[in-house]
Amino acid sequence: MSNEPSIANYSGEDFRPPFPTRDPGRVKVLRLLKQARKNYLAIWSLKDFDTRLIDFKILNRQLMVCNAPDVVKEAFQTNHEALQRKTPQMRNALSPLIGDGLFISDGDIWAARRKMVAPIIHGSRVPGFAPIMIETIEEKKKEWLDLPEGGEIDALAEMAHLTAEIICRTIFGQDLGRQFATEVVEAFSDYQRQIDQIDLVSLLGLPEWLPRFVKPSIRKSVKRIHTVLDQIIDQYAVSKSKGNVSVLGGLLEACDEDGVPLSREAIRNEAAVIFMAGHETTANTLAWAWYLLSQSPQVSSRLTQEIDHILGDRSPTFADVRNLPYTKAVVEETLRLYPPVPILGREAIEATSIDGRPVGKGTLLLVVPWLLQRNSKLWNDPHIFRPERHVEADGDKRSKYSYVPFSIGPRICPGLAFGMTESVLSLAILARDVELRLKQGEDVQPICRLTVRPGDHLPMTVHRRQRTAQA
Ligand code: HEM
Repeated sequence: MSNEPSIANYSGEDFRPPFPTRDPGRVKVLRLLKQARKNYLAIWSLKDFDTRLIDFKILNRQLMVCNAPDVVKEAFQTNHEALQRKTPQMRNALSPLIGDGLFISDGDIWAARRKMVAPIIHGSRVPGFAPIMIETIEEKKKEWLDLPEGGEIDALAEMAHLTAEIICRTIFGQDLGRQFATEVVEAFSDYQRQIDQIDLVSLLGLPEWLPRFVKPSIRKSVKRIHTVLDQIIDQYAVSKSKGNVSVLGGLLEACDEDGVPLSREAIRNEAAVIFMAGHETTANTLAWAWYLLSQSPQVSSRLTQEIDHILGDRSPTFADVRNLPYTKAVVEETLRLYPPVPILGREAIEATSIDGRPVGKGTLLLVVPWLLQRNSKLWNDPHIFRPERHVEADGDKRSKYSYVPFSIGPRICPGLAFGMTESVLSLAILARDVELRLKQGEDVQPICRLTVRPGDHLPMTVHRRQRTAQA
């Protein structure tokens, strides 16, 4: 049936991390739906990885997968107007929580919100957030160094905790962020457990106005999140006077072109979007990076050499980030192999065409970083973990449309610089003093329900590391 092994494979310098078994040909619809319920990464056939444009039907819905740089550009950049709407699955899963929030809105509301919200988390604001990131990461390092040598941690949970603390402290300010982090994280996790991205009503092509049942448990967890966000917004006035830098401060001060500020509901929605979009994505990236480093001694050693060379005995500042190109490349390569958002979906709001083929209104159009970033027509040895490909010209035919872990076009992730800086600083600070080893006997497999994770847990052991002597 399948002709590729799914197990991780290490030979010399080349580490080939795990991926689900692939069928050689297209999977039958019922089996595909069954697999999708368990793991979105398991639905793709071997052929899909190198196919330029995949066109198929599930139940009553036409689906098209754009899997070549020029086709991706046409879909997400050139044809943005017709293809800017998120899929009904995504909108239905998230609208009870974030209403008209940036992540799932489109048209005029999206355009107005994007102008107001993106600048608040934009790269130019990241130097102001970096001290909060550094302080929070140093706290995590201290916790790890307090463990006995070889102490066990769940690296996935640890990274989720770290990035949640960082995003809470940056959204709500240092004091409120610390105070409310646990409650915010628990309330959001509760919501995620309730939602189901496979929305059969939409796949069957039934009309949008058809009422959808929102489970009472979903309503309950939404209420919990809204209550805590309202409490934070109410208390914000106090911390604001202490001069804290925060996203919430930016949202409260933001005005549209006519000088109209965001409503309280809009502020709550956008704060929820930023928490949701900016927390698990970075956590999973870091968890995967630890796993990949633990399996690749050469990469790990090159990484720590760079960190030791640039930082020596001191803690990093924001200015160091640009001097850590290999650390950045490790993050980039992790995002290539395990893009946290592996499927970017859109629904055609009007008829258009892609690559000369007609696209009917209502067609679901997908860009799948999981496929594109492992397409052998675009990448040499696509399944091998090789950070060098991001710093050295190794012959990969690179276009910005062939590497899209943060999406591309007008809807590109506005937290890109935030997430990259946070990831580079986390690796630099933690890997400088600590080595994480995979717990013996653990079999790690990627699984995707909402984001790509190394299963539910990533058991690793913590070891103190001696820095390499500086010349
Ligand atoms: C490694 C970390 C991250 C990854 C891989 C990532 C990835 C993405 C992707 C793929 C999208 C677009 C989804 C689509 O087109 O369907 C997106 C959107 C978004 N991200 Fe990120 N993200 C990361 C970190 C962050 C952070 C740290 C923040 C906030 C501080 C953030 C805020 C947002 C927002 C607000 C959107 C919605 C943009 C819009 O629809 O206009 N992200 N992200």
